[in-house]
Amino acid sequence: MLGLKLLTDPRWANIAEANLAEILTDHAWCEQKAASNAITLIINNPEKEELVHELTAIAIEEMQHFQMVIEIIKKRGYTLGPERKDDYVNQLMKFSRKGEGRHAAFIDRLLFAAMIEARSCERFRVLFQNIRDKELAEFYRELMISEANHYTTFLNFARKFAIDLDVEQRWKEWLEFEGKLILSYGKTEKIHG
Ligand SMILES: [Fe+2]
Ligand SMILES: [Fe+2]
Repeated sequence: MLGLKLLTDPRWANIAEANLAEILTDHAWCEQKAASNAITLIINNPEKEELVHELTAIAIEEMQHFQMVIEIIKKRGYTLGPERKDDYVNQLMKFSRKGEGRHAAFIDRLLFAAMIEARSCERFRVLFQNIRDKELAEFYRELMISEANHYTTFLNFARKFAIDLDVEQRWKEWLEFEGKLILSYGKTEKIHG
């Protein structure tokens, strides 16, 4: 699925469903971080008109997802907890290219975003297919489709702007790294946990 090397054990969905208050708070902050990441890319690349246009739409959509999650939290009588750290995303950030110039860092930032969208999409699929709560299952099915589109957008931009960089080779490295990284996760009630 989306090139991912390792699929999530469906039992992770049971862990998530057993602590909805926690998974929803964690999820809300994932959406906020996705919006912030799109905004950072816009700020750093104002001259790329198409990218600014598309990522503005993504930033808005991610904040709409944030809004949908906080509405579910309210409706179910939970409260939005403080921002959660995302260890998985921090590990991916460490894998990103630095010190190889602005262009390489930019392409890697797009691949970093595509990677997170791919795994988020996969996690939403696992939730959609395995949780018993019908309303939430439908919610996660909708988000799965949306994040798949974001994945495509980020990967296509990486390919478009790659110029002399071998983006396919680098994307392979990302998938290999992520496939090993995700082995340590899938045990907690976090979207990337
Ligand atoms: Fe989202
Ligand atoms: Fe997304």
